[in-house]
Amino acid sequence: KIESTLRPQLLDDYIGQTKAKENLKVYIEAAKQRKESLDHVLFYGPPGLGKTTLAGIIANEMSVNIKVTSGPAIEKPGEMAAILNNLQEGDVLFVDEIHRLNRQVEELLYPAMEDYAIDIVIGKGASAKSIRLDLPKFTLVGATTRAGMLTPPLRDRFGVVNRLEFYTVEELKVIICRSANVFQVKIDEEGALELARRSRGTPRLANRLLKRVRDFAQVKYNGYITKEVADFALDLLEVDKLGLDNTDREILFTMIEKFGGGPVGIETVATTIGEDTGTIEEVYEPYLVQNGLILRTPRGRVVSELAYKHFGLCQEKLV
Ligand code: ADE
Repeated sequence: KIESTLRPQLLDDYIGQTKAKENLKVYIEAAKQRKESLDHVLFYGPPGLGKTTLAGIIANEMSVNIKVTSGPAIEKPGEMAAILNNLQEGDVLFVDEIHRLNRQVEELLYPAMEDYAIDIVIGKGASAKSIRLDLPKFTLVGATTRAGMLTPPLRDRFGVVNRLEFYTVEELKVIICRSANVFQVKIDEEGALELARRSRGTPRLANRLLKRVRDFAQVKYNGYITKEVADFALDLLEVDKLGLDNTDREILFTMIEKFGGGPVGIETVATTIGEDTGTIEEVYEPYLVQNGLILRTPRGRVVSELAYKHFGLCQEKLV
């Protein structure tokens, strides 16, 4: 299956996230030498940067199985108890969007993570009894777009905490060439570079855009992705030279036109354009801040001079 080979299986094939990768390499090697399970790992950062991929790599490098679930998917403590109880020694349990676990399920995880045991209450009222059920030693790999939304007791139970960063254009270029190879589509250096520049530092987006550009290359050109093809397709997809999409532009234009470039609260912006505040904060804003298009100040967000320049606008306040 093409989709799965897009994801690297080994740390050495994983591009970027050097810090997380180098750390994990040591912890994995150490755990293997001691024949122990790896300590619990938390990944946080914007979506599409490889949290799920890294969880898969951890399981693969440790030669264990991975069970994948997510915060919203587990509604009752009993469901989590069943998942934990069915793990084999050393297995990885990957919980995506872990900040969305409900409180009772989260509390079940505390003893599970700390002591590899859970307490189950049997019966009701005066005859209720709590019994302790031992679990196989396992590795919880949690992923969240917002570490700040984790409760401290949960966050503190992860022995390894990694923040994932946006990828550089050069890193994305390598990933795009690798993916083009998987898709069996030809791409030249300049084509890959243009795609990389417009992928907002995010491999998931790079791979998605690559698929669309491939379609254009196949139907409108001779199947070969050059800069010309990439430019043509990406312009049609309304992804601009900095990788900004319609929502990014709406955010910035709203801040400029309705709020004089700021300072303005992110909630106000979200409400004005009819987007969810969390989505703006987790998905859109990090890239805009990282690239200096939005500045965060104590009084709110401000549109930078760079953003005005990018859109060919004059910054009225300065002029
Ligand atoms: N495909 C998606 N993300 C990747 C990464 N970080 N390294 C290599 N291939 C990838």
